[in-house]
Amino acid sequence: MTVEITYHGHSCFSIRTDQAHLLIDPFLSGNQYADVSPDEINPDYILVSHAHGDHLGDALPIAKRTGAVVISNFEICNYLTDRGAITHGMHLGGERQFPFGAVKLTIAHHGSSFPDGTYGGNPCGFLLRLEGKTLYFAGDTALFYAMGLYGAEGIDVAMLPIGDNFTMGPKDVIKAVEFLQPQTAILMHYDTFDVIAQDARSVANAIAEQTHARPVLLAPGESLTA
Ligand code: NI
Ligand code: MN
Repeated sequence: MTVEITYHGHSCFSIRTDQAHLLIDPFLSGNQYADVSPDEINPDYILVSHAHGDHLGDALPIAKRTGAVVISNFEICNYLTDRGAITHGMHLGGERQFPFGAVKLTIAHHGSSFPDGTYGGNPCGFLLRLEGKTLYFAGDTALFYAMGLYGAEGIDVAMLPIGDNFTMGPKDVIKAVEFLQPQTAILMHYDTFDVIAQDARSVANAIAEQTHARPVLLAPGESLTA
């Protein structure tokens, strides 16, 4: 019973258990840091946090090719169902038990329009309970107080954006880690574009010095076992 987390650059992760391969925010085409192509990845489920192009990414072609079920908010699922994907729509605060474990849609303070301008519902993050581990993927979000409520669930691994400009940045991620109290904090959503360039190593050092969490920087293709 292991949970293996593999980084594919930006905010894209594969989460593999003995039961399933979950792919989160599959922005691979057009991502210079992606270590895999959308044609060679075969998830069982695709989780999409919001409709922006750097998160929705290749979700539709991967879902259509593999038959993977897309889990996202109601609006994104309707959009993808209309275009031929199999989906399971949820919404903020809702949790559901799937064959591989539980998924809860968490709050994210951000936007969520599709690249074509269509309304994409509210953005979200994910709280995942897999093989006895609790994982929190924040999505694109500002810092918010309710992270403390998620922290009370006992988080093993948190995936947190640090790019600033569009999401919380190096200062606020320290407060986020204090609220979430994860064992391990994986940093994401930095360096892909000039406007979110960060010195991730110094952010990781600050987390190590100022919080009880173990910060982790994964190179694309690198994995961590939760
Ligand atoms: Ni976004
Ligand atoms: Mn983004």
